[in-house]
Amino acid sequence: MKLITCGLPYANGKAHIGHLRTYVPADVYVRYLRLFGEDAIFVCGSDCHGTPIVVNAEKEGLKPKELVDIYHEHFQRVFSEIDIEFDYFGRTDAEYHHERTQDIVKKLLENGYIYPKEIELAYCPSCERFLPDRYVEGVCPYCSAIARGDECDQGCGRHLEPGEILDPRCKICGAKAVYKKQKHYFFRLTEFRDFLLEYLDNLKGTENALNYARQWVSKELKDWCITRNLEWGVRFPGEDLVVYVWVDAPIGYISFTERACEKRGLDWERIWRAEKKESEIVHFIGLDIVYHHCIFWPAMLKGSNYSLPDGVVASGMVKVEGKTFSKTRGYVVWLEDDYLASGLNTDFLRYYLVNYTSHQKDLNFSWEVFGEKVNNELIANLGNFLYRVTYFAWKNFKDGGEAKIRANIDEDALRVIEETVKKIRDAIENWEFKIASDAFMELSSFGNNYFQSHKPWELIKSDIEAAIQVVSTCLHIAKALVILSFPVLPKTMRRFSRIFGFEIENSKVEDVLSINDFVIKKPEIPFQKIEEEKIAELEEMMLERIRRASKMEEGILNEGEEDIKTGDKMSEKEDLISFEEFKRFDLRIGKVLRAEKIEKSKKLMRLEIDIGDEVRQVVAGIAEDYTPEDVVGRLLPVLVNMKPAKLMGVESKGMILAADVGGKPVLLSPDRDVEPGSKIR
Ligand code: 2FM
Ligand code: ZN
Repeated sequence: MKLITCGLPYANGKAHIGHLRTYVPADVYVRYLRLFGEDAIFVCGSDCHGTPIVVNAEKEGLKPKELVDIYHEHFQRVFSEIDIEFDYFGRTDAEYHHERTQDIVKKLLENGYIYPKEIELAYCPSCERFLPDRYVEGVCPYCSAIARGDECDQGCGRHLEPGEILDPRCKICGAKAVYKKQKHYFFRLTEFRDFLLEYLDNLKGTENALNYARQWVSKELKDWCITRNLEWGVRFPGEDLVVYVWVDAPIGYISFTERACEKRGLDWERIWRAEKKESEIVHFIGLDIVYHHCIFWPAMLKGSNYSLPDGVVASGMVKVEGKTFSKTRGYVVWLEDDYLASGLNTDFLRYYLVNYTSHQKDLNFSWEVFGEKVNNELIANLGNFLYRVTYFAWKNFKDGGEAKIRANIDEDALRVIEETVKKIRDAIENWEFKIASDAFMELSSFGNNYFQSHKPWELIKSDIEAAIQVVSTCLHIAKALVILSFPVLPKTMRRFSRIFGFEIENSKVEDVLSINDFVIKKPEIPFQKIEEEKIAELEEMMLERIRRASKMEEGILNEGEEDIKTGDKMSEKEDLISFEEFKRFDLRIGKVLRAEKIEKSKKLMRLEIDIGDEVRQVVAGIAEDYTPEDVVGRLLPVLVNMKPAKLMGVESKGMILAADVGGKPVLLSPDRDVEPGSKIR
């Protein structure tokens, strides 16, 4: 038995393609395990607690539970439409989950792994409250990027402890926060260093996850503050505090397994109790939550006598049309509003997601590439073979509504099928879903060549026995393809398998190799080609969203209300550029000759800057922090080949660079006087 889990989505917003990058491969994995005869339990659920929920609920004027109800239902619906079939999809605000969490926290207390300590916490004097996690924004003490209270989401990706963030500001009212003392509870993570080093040496999974985790354990382990000042969440025993969301969320893996086992009459303790463990546990997660799964989580389990995960499989991040994934900038594909609304077969998206690239690598979503892969690979190869062969067999051998064809299979073709099964099995063991799906596509190419080169349409007129051998060999390949591609293409193959007269859900790999006579019903085309206009329409929809987002960004920045670039944890990470790309930036030192505030704008100032060979007009968002007198005569770094833009109706040709400190600009100057126009390299 294997337990497979997927990272729990926060029930605070709609599902997008970034989510599916983890869930589709996990579902494919579970389906292959079952095909290969392994019993698997597959669980997931909504992550309902913490500031990601509370802050969004507050923004939408809802109670946390009301927000969670909406998005829990949304995720369930979308997952089911896209054939991601969990044995149990729970929610962490359920009573059974609170009980399991409290049981674990009490065990950790009993075992001496939790201790109280007075610490300095960010507090907003104007809202008069402590500011946990996403209520506070400031500067990461490790890499100086703008960060959230508990996570350097746009910089180095580190987990941040309460009190660590520099220059904290209240996310709600924007006021400068102060540090104030309060008693909180800590988990003795540092006591687990040796355990973790050994554990990580034996943990299976993708190298991307394991490498990060090993580095972090050897370099920077700290005790972990596990309580928060919030109303919404799992109560910490005996205090007016809740446990940190990252304590209770992974416990969902246990509480949802309990429910899944209950449904199937199994004993969950054989999975999760250290002394009874019989099953393997594999977590599928995004690369951004490796720290939590490879460090906190195993230490918590070890400290409370639960059993340890055996594997962590991390998916690479998602880009959209070559740009860093960003909901605020419009580089996002929504599952319900974009994909499902388009009416396209959901298997197309599943195929694209697993076959585009290795699971560990970043995925660059593009409608154009999506359309090409579906039409020119999936349909031109697999769709064509399945339909051509089954239709030929039905048309030429039908007697009444069905065609009966005796099995007489070419030995060479059988060997190719056996090799395909082996390739898929090996690939699945290594979480290489692209290799597995390439393997069935290669078998399909083999089938197409076989059909084409043996010309059954000629044989049928001259040598019926030979024609039967070719047709039954091709039908056997087709049946193997239906079964072997089912984990990736469940909707299509469920339908198409009926042509062969079997229900695919319970098929096993033995069915691929067992030889039976065929009874073929009239086939229908397995996939409908995607029209070029459809792709153009979807692309245009995305471009329009990007245009709208960029207009909104301009507007918001002009009014100086909010910087919408913050707040997306998937952005910027791992976004490396080459030296060639860097060389495209024309960066120079400029000298400010004249400056004036732009009327009607709180933030903007118009500057005339000498950049060596000309004087440029540049609009900069510095007027809240500098006066025109402060900047005239100053030397500043300028990005000269920035696309011109109009801000509050004033043209800006270039951009000055400044340090971003808690959302405020701090101007930069060269070490000594240099000529305007000096190159920055
Ligand atoms: O990062 C996230 O989206 C979290 N909701 C994942 C939680 S996974 C687990 F630990 F439950
Ligand atoms: Zn950082």
